[in-house]
Amino acid sequence: MSGGSLRPASRGRTDRRRGPGRRAFASAAAALGALAAAASTAQHSTAFDVESGERAYASACANCHGPDGDLIAGIDFGRGLYRRASSDDEIVGIILNGIPNTPMPPNPGMSEAQALAIVAYLRAMARSSASAELDGDAARGRALVEGKGECLTCHRIGRRGSRAGPSLTRIGTARRAEELKRSLLDPAAEVLPENRSYRVVTREGEAITGRLMNHDTFTVQIITSDEKLRSFRKANLAEHAFAETAMPSYRDTLTAQEIADIVSYLVTLRGEERQ
Ligand code: HEC
Ligand code: HEC
Repeated sequence: MSGGSLRPASRGRTDRRRGPGRRAFASAAAALGALAAAASTAQHSTAFDVESGERAYASACANCHGPDGDLIAGIDFGRGLYRRASSDDEIVGIILNGIPNTPMPPNPGMSEAQALAIVAYLRAMARSSASAELDGDAARGRALVEGKGECLTCHRIGRRGSRAGPSLTRIGTARRAEELKRSLLDPAAEVLPENRSYRVVTREGEAITGRLMNHDTFTVQIITSDEKLRSFRKANLAEHAFAETAMPSYRDTLTAQEIADIVSYLVTLRGEERQ
């Protein structure tokens, strides 16, 4: 399949900043899925199915399964991960009849064609993230992460690197290729609450930046880059506020191919220790 279609589309596009990011990804996935479906003669679903499936999914399914299909434990439509169903027919059956004694409801008003359109959309979600992974070369990506990209000056992978940014040791289990690419191109577009940098300045003039752990009316707790938990009384602070993310955008410093290589490497990071 033409996985390469991801690359040219990603360069020079500025509308990726529209937020919130997860919604943006859902429609990007649909657009890519539609392209993939249209390009592939082996697929019986048409781009039209995928589009109407996306709309039906957004209105009938996303509130429980999430826009990316990964909100229910053990099920992740974007990764093609199912606990019970495997064939299209089984998924259609589940959509129409629900799963008795679970919150998964039946959809008595839905036709089989509509259910099939949703299945086409679910399959397209999984294909678009799989094709994004195929774009790059993981070995080259690793060399870039450890070399030119200087990622380890802020991130930890296994036992190497720094704790200034979040650890990437298991990032491949937590994020899909498309989300990783967005972190590299538009880091400010979607920063997880637990990754947001918070900066405090004490009345004595000491400035400390870290990840915000907790805050209440009177105190603020942050984790500093050397992983110390520090607590401050707000009354003793001259300033306290979220800081800009330290994660640089690589949009202008790495090529689209290099970004794809890095993403291919990051998706392999699933928690094993790497030397
Ligand atoms: C009210 C919340 C809710 C809504 C709405 C909902 N689901 Fe579910 N769905 C669930 C839950 C919870 C499960 C897991 C049930 C279980 O196995 O315990 C599930 C399971 C599934 C499964 C089985 C996955 C597997 O592991 O095999 C599929 C497929 C599915 N849902 C698709 C859909 C689709 C498509 C829609 C929209 C038409 C939808 N669901 C709407 C809650 C919901
Ligand atoms: C100057 C420090 C710095 C450098 C250099 C840096 N990062 Fe980051 N990165 C951060 C910080 C801080 C965050 C957390 C805030 C955010 O998500 O923007 C982050 C976030 C990320 C995330 C999102 C993590 C998540 O949980 O979603 C990824 C992926 C990532 N960086 C990968 C990289 C890669 C790959 C490189 C090298 C090409 C790199 N970073 C270079 C500081 C840095």
